[in-house]
Parts: sequence; C-alpha cells; structure tokens
Amino acid sequence: MLNNIAFKDYKKSDDIHGTVLYPAVMVAPVQKSVLNDIILKNDISSIFDPFHGSGTALYEAMEISTNLHLVGCDINPLANLITRVKLQGVNSHVFKDIEKIKSYLSDPKQIYPFSFPNMEKWFRKDIFESLKIVRSAIMNIKDEQNRLFFWYMLCDIIRKHSNTRSSTYKLHIKEINAISRIENKVVANFISTIEKNVDKFMHESKNFVLYKCDVLKKIKAFDSRVFDVSITSPPYGDNATTVPYGQFSMLALYTISQNDLELEGWELDNYSVIDSNSLGGRNSEDTLNTYEKNLIKPYLDRISISKHKKVIRFFYDYFQFLKELCRVTDKYIVLTLGNRTVDRVQINLTDITKAFLESQNFSNIKQAQRDIPVKRTPKVTSIVHQKPVSSMNCEYIIVHKRDI
Ligand SMILES: C[S@@+](CC[C@H](N)C(=O)[O-])C[C@H]1O[C@@H](n2cnc3c(N)ncnc32)[C@H](O)[C@@H]1O
Repeated sequence: MLNNIAFKDYKKSDDIHGTVLYPAVMVAPVQKSVLNDIILKNDISSIFDPFHGSGTALYEAMEISTNLHLVGCDINPLANLITRVKLQGVNSHVFKDIEKIKSYLSDPKQIYPFSFPNMEKWFRKDIFESLKIVRSAIMNIKDEQNRLFFWYMLCDIIRKHSNTRSSTYKLHIKEINAISRIENKVVANFISTIEKNVDKFMHESKNFVLYKCDVLKKIKAFDSRVFDVSITSPPYGDNATTVPYGQFSMLALYTISQNDLELEGWELDNYSVIDSNSLGGRNSEDTLNTYEKNLIKPYLDRISISKHKKVIRFFYDYFQFLKELCRVTDKYIVLTLGNRTVDRVQINLTDITKAFLESQNFSNIKQAQRDIPVKRTPKVTSIVHQKPVSSMNCEYIIVHKRDI
C-alpha cells in the first residue's frame, strides 16, 4: 500500500474523472490503490466519503466492487450531481435521448426563459442565448437518469464559455478583449462532448446513498462504527481563503434546472453562500478545548492576532468532524490532506490530524507524500510583507487503523 503513488503517467482525460472539472480533486489511481489493498486484506462492505466532491473515491470503490455499500456527503449541490451521475451512469435509452437532443438543437421550438443575478456580467449575450437553447433541450428529456448526465456534460461548457478566467477557481472577470474573443461553440461542443464521453458512463452502482448536506450535521445521525472504511479529502481551510468550491460551481448551479438539483433552499441565495456555509466558514463563538488548542498553538503563536479567529473557526469545525468520523468508522480512515499557509506560516494539517486521530484510538499505519502536478490554486497566492506566500504544493495521504 502506498509504495509508489506518483502515477506520473496517469491522465485524468483518459477516464471518467476527466469528463468534468472540479477543484482540488483526489488522484484516482492513488485512491484505488489504497482501497484495493484494504479491501483485499479485510472484510469490507461499506465505504464512506464525507466530503465526496466530484466522487473520485466513491467511483474508484465502485470500480473495485459494485457490491460495496457507498455513502457520501457534500454540501455543494454541484458535487452531489457530479457524483450521482458518475455512480449511476446512463441507461439504455441514452442514445435515443442523444438523438432527441440533436434534433431539438437543429430546430429549437420551445425555449424556456431563465435568468439569474449578474448573468450579463458572466455571459456574453449570444452565449447566454445558446445556453438557453441547450438548457431547454435538456429539460425536454423525460428520463431523469439521462437528463442528469446531460446536465453534468453541460458544466464544463458553461465555464469555458463564461466571462470568468480559467486560471483560477474563483469567479474573476476576463478582460474585455478576451471576452470578445470567446468563440460561441456552445451547441457544437455540447453535442461532441456527450457523444465522446457517453461510453464512460456505462458502469453503475446499485448500492449508494448521497446526502446533499452539511456533514457536521449529518454525521451525528449515523450509528457508531457503521462504516468499514472512511476515505476523503477534507477542505484544508475555510473555502473563502483556500479553495472556493461554491463560487466555482455557481454558474452551473444557476443554469441547471432547480428541479434536477438536490437543494435545501439556501444554496442559490448568492455567489458566496455555499462557501460561507462550508467547513470553517461560519461565524461562531464556539471555541476549542484545551487539547485542541494545544495542537494548533505552535502555529497560532506565529500568526497575526487578526487571523486567529479564522484559523480557530476552521479547526473547531474540523476537530468536531474528525471526532465524529472516528466514532462512525469501524476499521480504516484514509485522508488526503494539504498543508495551507497563513501569514507565511505553514499549518501542518497532516501532523495535527495524525495526532488527533491517534488520540481517538486510530493509529497511523501509512503515510505518503505526493507533488500536486497540475494546479489552478497558484503556488504563490499572495504577497505579505513584500514577500510572496506559497500555497499547498504537496498532498499527503495518511492511513489510520482502529486500535481495537
Ligand atoms: C477537497 S474537496 C473533495 C474533493 C474530492 N475528494 C474529489 O476528488 O473530487 C472538499 C469538499 O468538501 C465539501 N465541503 C466543505 N464543507 C463541507 C461541509 N460542511 N459538509 C459537507 N461537505 C463540505 C466541498 O463542497 C468540497 O466538495
């Protein structure tokens, strides 16, 4: 396990994980290799990913065995849609449905109106009109399973044709000249992308449950030791100052029909609400206990007072989560982690997490480090005291096993 995790030749574009962009995804063959090893040597029937994102780990678990019971959670409705489509695939009517879409697009009749806040800022008018037509074509598909696949396939087209820059996951408007240079290939790209990728969606798990919710709330409802293996990559800090998964997803979320999204009701309120409701994003007066405080004290001591609140808020949520994760996991916890930097101080999330898990009777049995090859989160994120501040460049995979 974890002997060679470089997988330098692995290209996401060759498999299902390359069919949609999502920030900070795990590397599929790494997760598969860890899971394979654990599953081969143990009696494993259930896998839990509490921050499933684009569903890398759950999908790889399904590839190992379709009998595994897969459970996932994510607060972001786009992550929920992406993972659902990866796990349920398409059905035998899909080729007929593709023909229906093509025929509608060659002669669109009924175009459903839609709008959302600031849409003129994020889409050129002609592009918005084309998206409206593709959106209507998808809404006319009756089969829900295939319709969700079509929404999934629209996600990257939306982003590529929007006025936001591709160099960052944040919404950051392009220069006016760059906007005018965008080629409107919405319809042609949509058709070619569904035809090119549909064959990758022929696998399905019959045994999965996805929860679109805040895992801090959901996890408390699970019985103790109910999952054999928990495998995930949690956020490394509050979304607003690390990876804005919510902001990244908003243009797709505003475009996809609300009937086809799992929504609690607040997610489309504004462009930043998903990020502020995510781990470490909420304002609260909750505070750490002495053990937890001591774990992060060496870092806090070197960070300016004005940033303490943000760091403490994240770790309050993070420790609550880890404690519950240990309670609900019966055998193994596998985490992929990054160490973020605040005020030029690198917060060693890996060491902090290892210590916390050990305190909950989960011993570390493996650790590996991997360079992050392709990153949209820049290596240098900001300038503090006239010096550039580097962000995460490595990820760490740790495996912990329950002691008794
Ligand atoms: C590092 S990403 C997971 C990426 C995933 N492993 C993959 O390969 O695509 C972290 C995920 O945590 C989710 N998240 C953040 N706070 C959450 C919360 N309180 N409850 C549930 N999910 C949350 C984000 O929406 C994001 O999808």
